[in-house]
Amino acid sequence: MNTTVRHSLGQYDVEVTGLRVVLDGLGDDDMIVTDDHVRAAVNLERDCFSIKPGELSKCLAVYGEVMDWLAQRASRSSRVVALGGGVVGDLAGFAAATFMRGVRLLQVPTSLMAMVDSSVGGKVGIDLAAGKNLAGAFWPPEKVQVPIDALGTLPSRHFTNGAAEVWKYAAIMDPALFDRLSSKPLALSDPNPAETVMRCIELKRVVVEGDEHETTGGRATLNFGHTVGHAIEQSMGYQGILHGEAVAIGMVAESLLGERLGLTDKQTTERIRGGLQSQGLPIKLPEGLDSRNLLEPMRRDKKADRNGLAFSLVSEIGTCKLLRGVAESDVLSALEKL
Ligand code: GLY
Repeated sequence: MNTTVRHSLGQYDVEVTGLRVVLDGLGDDDMIVTDDHVRAAVNLERDCFSIKPGELSKCLAVYGEVMDWLAQRASRSSRVVALGGGVVGDLAGFAAATFMRGVRLLQVPTSLMAMVDSSVGGKVGIDLAAGKNLAGAFWPPEKVQVPIDALGTLPSRHFTNGAAEVWKYAAIMDPALFDRLSSKPLALSDPNPAETVMRCIELKRVVVEGDEHETTGGRATLNFGHTVGHAIEQSMGYQGILHGEAVAIGMVAESLLGERLGLTDKQTTERIRGGLQSQGLPIKLPEGLDSRNLLEPMRRDKKADRNGLAFSLVSEIGTCKLLRGVAESDVLSALEKL
C-alpha cells in the first residue's frame, strides 16, 4: 500500500510496511531519534537519541540536546530518522530541518496519531512557552515508512488518542468513513488497520498538496477541533491529557460553536459527540478547567489574526470550512454548553 505526496521541492512516497523491514533497512548515515517507550518496545540496540515520551519533550531544551547529539556524529549526508509518535516526528523533523541548514528526514510513525496525521505533510516544530508548535518549519520527509505492526505495541489509551484524528478526517472529509466508524469504532483488534490508516493519509495528501504551506485556508481546515484542543493542552501544561483527547473535546466544542454561528446543525453535533464518546474519547472539559482560561492560548493560535479567532467548522458530516473573525463571546458561549 503506497501513495506519493507531491510538494514544492519534489515528492515523497508513503508506504505501509513492517517494523523489521524499516529497522533492517537503516544504514550508518541514519541518526535515529526515538522515545524511551518505542526504544524498549522495538528493542533498539544501536546508537540513538531517546527522549522522555510526551509533549513536554517537544521544547527548546530537548531540541538543543538533539542538535548537540547530531553535531557530535552527523554530517550533511546524514539522514535523521524520526522513529516514534507525533512528538518524536515533530521534534526530530525540526532538528532535520535546521541541522546544517537541513538534512534528509525519514518519518517512521509508530503511533496511530503519527501514522494518520503528523508524519505526512512536512510540518515539523516544537512548542514555546507562549504556545504549541510556535517554532517550526515545513520540511518534507524523504520518505514516510509506516510500520503498521507497531500499532500492536501501543497502550490502548494511545490507540484511542490517535483514533480522534481518524474521526476528524471522517467528520471533515469522508461521510462513508464516518458512517463506518459510527457503526463500529476503531479497535486495536481490527483485522485491517492499514486500510483506515491509508484512507486518512490519502485524505490528508489531497489537502496538503492543495495548500502545502497553509496559505489559502485549505490546510487550516485540518485543524477542526484543534483551536480549542491546543488551548486545553496548553492550559493543562501538557499533562494529564493527550493531544487526541483534547482534540476530541475541541471537536465537540467547535461543533457547538458552529451551531451557534448557524453553520452546523444540531444533528451533526450529536453525531460527532456520540461517535467520539463511543470511541471512548472525552467530550467534556476536564474537571477544574475554566473555559475563560482557554481564550488567551486561542488568541495565540496561528490561525488567529487581527479580526479575531479562526476555526475550521463542520457544516455537515464530510464538509467543513474555515471561518475567520469569530467573536470570543461566541466561543465562550459554546464552551459553556459543553
Ligand atoms: N496536522 C495538520 C496539518 O498537518 O496541517
